[in-house]
Parts: sequence; structure tokens; C-alpha cells
Amino acid sequence: METHKELTIGLFGFGVVGEGLYKVLQQTPSLKATLKKVCIKNADKKRNAPAELFTTDREALLNDPAINVIVEVIDDADAAYAIVSRALENGKDVVSASKKMLAEHLPALLALQAKTGRSLLYEAAACASIPVIRNLEEYYDNDLLHSIRAIVNGSTNYILTKMFEEGLDFKQALVQAQQLGFAESNPKLDVEGFDAVNKWALLLTHAYGITESPENILFNGIQNIHALDAVVGREKNQAIKLVAQAQKLKNGKVAAFVLPQFVKADDHLAFVKNEYNGVEIESGFSDKQFFYGKGAGSFPTASAVLSDISALRYQYKYEYKKLYHHIPQEAAAGYYLRVYISFDDIALVPKERFEWIEEWHAQQERKYLVGVVAYDELRKHNWWRENNTSLVLTADPVIEEVETRKLKKKSLELAGIL
Ligand code: HSE
Repeated sequence: METHKELTIGLFGFGVVGEGLYKVLQQTPSLKATLKKVCIKNADKKRNAPAELFTTDREALLNDPAINVIVEVIDDADAAYAIVSRALENGKDVVSASKKMLAEHLPALLALQAKTGRSLLYEAAACASIPVIRNLEEYYDNDLLHSIRAIVNGSTNYILTKMFEEGLDFKQALVQAQQLGFAESNPKLDVEGFDAVNKWALLLTHAYGITESPENILFNGIQNIHALDAVVGREKNQAIKLVAQAQKLKNGKVAAFVLPQFVKADDHLAFVKNEYNGVEIESGFSDKQFFYGKGAGSFPTASAVLSDISALRYQYKYEYKKLYHHIPQEAAAGYYLRVYISFDDIALVPKERFEWIEEWHAQQERKYLVGVVAYDELRKHNWWRENNTSLVLTADPVIEEVETRKLKKKSLELAGIL
């Protein structure tokens, strides 16, 4: 068996992560990994590395038999997919940080890994410096993994921290996240939850063997959060976080979504500030465990890429154990969520579609309610994210069954709505 393979790397991309990796590789000579060539898009840009390292010809890397590892850290998902597929087909191992590309093409990439027998590692694609993929893959048995709750996007967590703890406005906080290299080049991907749901799709595969495409997962970002929401949170001593959650239900299926959520002051996720990410895993016998670390930025992301490169020396591959060696879990529908909704005009909120309403506050110009709504209602309709309506899940939001329609009617009567 081949052990401690010599690694010769072809790198695609020399942005925040690529340059970080270049520096990190220089500081880790014991890895015995040689960076042979870097493929970039723009040859005119000044780079902090010797000019002879660079090329704009991707074939020079993909067809070089001496290069046995392709590291791909570009942010064009289509180009990244073409590069990664060609590299695997050409017999090279691949390390990628392109979460959008990986999440959108996972079924095809699973097939390619099986066909080529090559390794595709992507620890940097979710929670950057936190080794969460390998942990979920290797450590947790399917039956025992009760739930995972996580903050997986550094930029939105940075923005929420700066807005609600330091009083910055949304735009200022976003500009800072961009300047610090946390945000995607299209920040809509962060702010509107796309980046988080892409990461969640990948983590669901490694945690539960669920292979949902991101657009089939219920998600939203932080774009609709209103100042009142934070005020209400403070009154309850709760913060607002963009939380990715997966929770095993009694029927064995997994409720999975990415939505803003109120978190209690003593929740592990409440301690996750700025660009940090956090993952709380609850499993049988061990109870809760918490992983915490930087989820964005040059060196934290490069550190995960480096760790994947290092794992290639001993031919590490994801086995996708939960998918291939267990019966994969199914994503649940048919459950309910307790939500807080703030809005300008009740006419825009279909209150009759709630199972019941528990709180109703209509004194101020901006109004809010707390109620229970079916997951399917949120999946199929958009009223809750349109017309300046803001939806934030309550702490502990999943309700598996609601008792009777009578209860619903009664509570609407109590609220003076019917
Ligand atoms: N834009 C991403 C984030 C970068 O803010 O989390 C790391 O994946």
C-alpha cells in the first residue's frame, strides 16, 4: 500500500483563500507538499508570489502528470465544477472549498469519486477552520445523532453581531465583512442564506446521508430582520442568529432548515460572535458537544485546506458512511414550527393558515405575533419573506404534531382575531 505519498499541487485561485494557502504551505515544510503551479483568471493583477508560479492555462495543471493534487479555491461555481471533474477524471486527488459548486453537484461528484476512485475532500467548504465534516463522517453513528444546530456563515454572524451589539447599521457591517474577506464576492449569497444552505446540504450528507439539493431545503437569510426583532429579542434576553438545524423526529425522519432564530442567552450558539462559527451536536449517551472556531477568512479557511492536503498523504477519502453503509435518513415534512413574525400590515399575513397564535402585539406601527405554522406552509409559500415581513424561529421551534384544529380556532378567538 502507498503510504505518505509525495504531493505535488496545482492550485486554482489566488484570492483570499488561495494566497492564504500559499503562505501557510511555506510555513509547514514538514508536509512535503510542493506547490508547482497556480492557475489564475486575471494575469494582470499584482500577486504576492513569484511570477513564474502563475499561469492562466488551466490545461497546464490538469494535464501535468507530475501534479497529483488539484486544490481548487475559486468562486465561480461553474468553472470550479469543470475543473474538479476534469481533475478527478485525470486521476488526480482534489481539495475544494467551493461550497456552492459542491452542494449543487454533489450527486454527480459522488458518482465521479466512485468511478475514478480518487479522493475529493472539502473540509474548508463548511465552517472553515472547524473540522466538522470529518467528525460527522467518522465519529457519529447515524442512530445516535439526535440533532445538529450550527452557525455556518461567518458574514451574517458578523453582521448580526455588529448590528445588535455595536449599533452599526446593516450596510456598514456588510462593508466591514467584505473588507475583512469574509463575504462572498456576491454578498447576496451570504445575506440571503444561500451560502449557509449550501453548507448545510453538504453537512446533511455527512451527518445523515441526506442528499437534498439546496433549493429543496427550507431556508432564508437575514435580509428581512427588522430593528424591532432585536428589541423583542433583548426583552426576552435572546439573540438572533442564522441557525442551521437538523433534528431527528420520532418518526425517524430529519427536520432540516436554515432560518433566523432566537437563541437563549445560555445557548452555546449565543456565544458565537463575529465571523466565528459554532456547531452543537447532540447524540445519544454523550449528550451535547460544541465545536467552535473561525468560519471565514484567509488563514482559517486555508488551515482546513491544508488539513485536507495532509490527509491525502495517507490516501484519506470520504466514505460517505451514512449514505452507503447505513440506511440513509430522509428529510422530514409534515412537522410544525413555532415562529415569531413581524410585519407592517396584518393584511399581508395569512393568519388563518397558522395552527394557532400564542402572542399578538399590534400596538405599535410595526406589529408582531408568535404562532405555530406548518413546515409545508413555509416551504410552499413566500408571504413570510415578502412585503417587509420578517420571520424568526423561536428558541426550540420544532413541534412534531399539533393536537386538534379546535385548539387552533380557540387560540385565534382568544387573540381576538376571529
Ligand atoms: N462567505 C462565507 C462566510 C465564507 O461568510 O461564511 C466562508 O465560507
